Amino acid sequence: MSDAPARVADEIRSAAARLAAAGIDSARRDAEWLMAHVLSCDPGRLIVVDTIDDARLREFRTAVEQRTRRIPLQHIVGSAPFGPLELAVGPGVFIPRPETEYLLEWAASAAATMTDPVRIVDLCSGSGALAIGLATLVRSARVTAVEVDDDALKWLRRNVSDAPAVVRERLDVVAADVTDAEQIGKAIPPGSVSVVVTNPPYVPMRSEVGPEVDHDPARAVYGGDDGMSVIVPMVPIIATMLSVGGLVGIEHDDTTSGAVVDCLRAHGAFDEVTARTDLAGRPRFVTARRVG
Ligand SMILES: C[S@@+](CC[C@H](N)C(=O)[O-])C[C@H]1O[C@@H](n2cnc3c(N)ncnc32)[C@H](O)[C@@H]1O
Repeated sequence: MSDAPARVADEIRSAAARLAAAGIDSARRDAEWLMAHVLSCDPGRLIVVDTIDDARLREFRTAVEQRTRRIPLQHIVGSAPFGPLELAVGPGVFIPRPETEYLLEWAASAAATMTDPVRIVDLCSGSGALAIGLATLVRSARVTAVEVDDDALKWLRRNVSDAPAVVRERLDVVAADVTDAEQIGKAIPPGSVSVVVTNPPYVPMRSEVGPEVDHDPARAVYGGDDGMSVIVPMVPIIATMLSVGGLVGIEHDDTTSGAVVDCLRAHGAFDEVTARTDLAGRPRFVTARRVG
């Protein structure tokens, strides 16, 4: 380190070049995010910060070096934004993705049209992104988060306990396998649920994924050879828990929208089966309504 304090703008520029050389598309944004983390400020305020002291500079360069090894940004800073939330994440739990916010928005709007009491269930809850997001956005709802993995459950419980009391008091965590009708039936009475959301493991086994995805638990990512190994057994369990008129939204792989639609139609207890896309027109999730 030289005697003159390092300049924040210079450090961000050279970090962005290193990150770009490591193959990271969002190099500049990542460099800014890491700098903002080290300086404990909002990325938008970096423009007014001129210099960085030696201790923080070392911290920043270590973080950049970790990122060049394709450790996810969210693991380095220890959190991930999701809708209205900032969730604690790290090894052992799936990092919530921005694209799942489409499902969050759909479910929040759907729940807002329902009469109380609204009961929401988030199957395959991971960090609790959807469950805590919905308890935050839908103030009248009771929300149950279901997760099977012990490591993920630790992050889920931590995020629930970090939520404000007004949100936390309407959230329950259930440790159960969403493909096991008996386990789920004990925790969630049949016909009691207004809205089910789920972002299950759905990537087909032989798909190519980016190096960051290797840091997500395999159990959170892969859904068997066809990406449907959790969705298919979950559908009859969802049908059982939903009340008549209740809604379900299932996120899926880009390639399996048709398979999810077919699975819901074939079950026979759903109508209004609708394949939904994101703003870029990519198939994202399928919704359906429980009929009598
Ligand atoms: C793709 S991650 C989604 C996490 C979170 N819902 C989100 O959107 O960020 C899938 C989660 O499902 C959990 N999971 C996988 N199989 C499961 C099963 N049979 N029962 C319950 N949870 C399961 C994984 O541990 C993981 O946390």
